[in-house]
Amino acid sequence: MATELIKADSLTYTHKKYDLLLTDPPYSLAIDNACYSRHNNGAACKEFDYNFNEQKLIDIVPDLLYENGTALIFCARTQLSKYIDGLSKYLYFKNLLVWHKTNPAPFGRESKYVNSDEYILYFTKNSKKWTFNLEHYPFKTTYYFTPILQGSERFNHPCQKPEKLIKYLLKTHTHQNDTVVDLFAGTGTVAKCCQDLGISSTSFEINEYYYNICKKRLDID
Ligand SMILES: C[S@@+](CC[C@H](N)C(=O)[O-])C[C@H]1O[C@@H](n2cnc3c(N)ncnc32)[C@H](O)[C@@H]1O
Repeated sequence: MATELIKADSLTYTHKKYDLLLTDPPYSLAIDNACYSRHNNGAACKEFDYNFNEQKLIDIVPDLLYENGTALIFCARTQLSKYIDGLSKYLYFKNLLVWHKTNPAPFGRESKYVNSDEYILYFTKNSKKWTFNLEHYPFKTTYYFTPILQGSERFNHPCQKPEKLIKYLLKTHTHQNDTVVDLFAGTGTVAKCCQDLGISSTSFEINEYYYNICKKRLDID
């Protein structure tokens, strides 16, 4: 098992091929004041969130995957149509998964419903063959319920995903000896979960501060 961490712009990098792309790109919530409301001054939006170009990601995803490969891409509801329309030209759209946060941050609670969902788009490259493990479940639904991070698992990143959710996705979509790529590592949650499960992974992070968090978390020199 190998854990590779690369400090680079993953959108302009020359990539190898992988069995699974599992990644959490910027949500573009900072654009057009989308995350601003009467009671939210946009504090959750970081500089990496501005001007994210979804099309650049759409352009590189199909070539990243082996013939039986899978792509799982986190996104905001405002990005759903761009990714579904863009990627469906090259890949098979299997499901829209919903991560329902049981303890959402109550932004805007006085004036609107509190957003408690995040989305994961599930695409396969092949129409006939891909990896889907039921494990001990009779079936798996498109909803996954778990709280946002609290306590010791949390690093200083506004978008860090829970290991429980990432491990569930990895167990569902990989076989032994598969390789995983994360183009937007943040604190390195995908890589850390791969390490714990004995899966080889390659992760990219452009920001020096977050890259150093990843290095420490993954115990890489
Ligand atoms: C939504 S966060 C990922 C958080 C991650 N899922 C976690 O659990 O920590 C997206 C990350 O992508 C990084 N990023 C943005 N554009 C990038 C690019 N072109 N190449 C590599 N990393 C990039 C940002 O610095 C940010 O840390």
